[in-house]
Amino acid sequence: MTTPSPRTSQPVRTAIFPVAGLGTRFLPATKATPKELLPVLDRPLLQFAIDEARAAGIERMVFVSHPSKSAIERYVHADEDLSRKLREKGKHSIADRLEDAAIDPEAEEAHFVMQPEPLGLGHAVLCAVDHVLPGPVAVILPDDLIMGGPGCLSEMIDAYAGAGAGHMVATMEVARDEVSAYGVLDPVGETGGRLLHASGMVEKPDADKAPSLQAVVGRYVLDGSIFDDLRNQTPGLGGEIQLTDAIAKGVARVGLCGFRFSGQRFDCGSKAGMLRATLAYAGSREEFHPVLQDHSALAMAAE
Ligand code: G1P
Repeated sequence: MTTPSPRTSQPVRTAIFPVAGLGTRFLPATKATPKELLPVLDRPLLQFAIDEARAAGIERMVFVSHPSKSAIERYVHADEDLSRKLREKGKHSIADRLEDAAIDPEAEEAHFVMQPEPLGLGHAVLCAVDHVLPGPVAVILPDDLIMGGPGCLSEMIDAYAGAGAGHMVATMEVARDEVSAYGVLDPVGETGGRLLHASGMVEKPDADKAPSLQAVVGRYVLDGSIFDDLRNQTPGLGGEIQLTDAIAKGVARVGLCGFRFSGQRFDCGSKAGMLRATLAYAGSREEFHPVLQDHSALAMAAE
């Protein structure tokens, strides 16, 4: 592996949100409601991702969506009419919550671009190319909900300038029989710290061929050259343009490291993960503690 040149630290100003997937695993719930708008209690999955990007100082959010999911666009933008009606009725705290959730055009921008065909995560990221600001870009997969700690993306961006790698991916160790569901890092040595330098990355390897148990979860900070690599990327696993393959291609040039984040990650692409996230979120809100206590008392009685 050639040694990548030292990086200049340009700020990370853009976050790309791939939200074009049709959420078939959650049908019929996702027949008329985009998967990203399914609620974790009273907060859509997408809102967690938007708030995480905001906390990380992202200026521009690019949503790569699907023509059938126009509800996402409606959700993201402010609804002045609804706010006004709520305020007229004296429901100020609900109006405040609604306004806080929506994009504030004075502080941030939302761009929408369509990915009509499911050609892969790498293709989705490439769809955003004409909308990104100069410098490295963040990618957030809203299905991966990361709760607790400072936001995962904030932590990554704080560590990015000193990491000595142009591509940084959030990583966590998984069991061997789970590696085939993830992009997996090929680490170089073991630092024991939060950064894990890697010489490559493989998309969904078989358990017996995985280079490590260091799985990539849906947060990326990528050198701007990722778009050139994506443009030249041939289809990989499943016939799709894989983001993993384009990242791996840039390793010799820009470097790659995993980042061990401090929050807890929930796989909200699965029903069990969604349920776990909902229980954890309820646990973080005192008003729901009596419900959780009743539930655990019931569960113990049933044993
Ligand atoms: C995608 C990526 C994979 C990554 C995963 C994290 O896969 O392709 O590399 O590990 O997200 O959730 P998906 O879960 O969309 O199949």
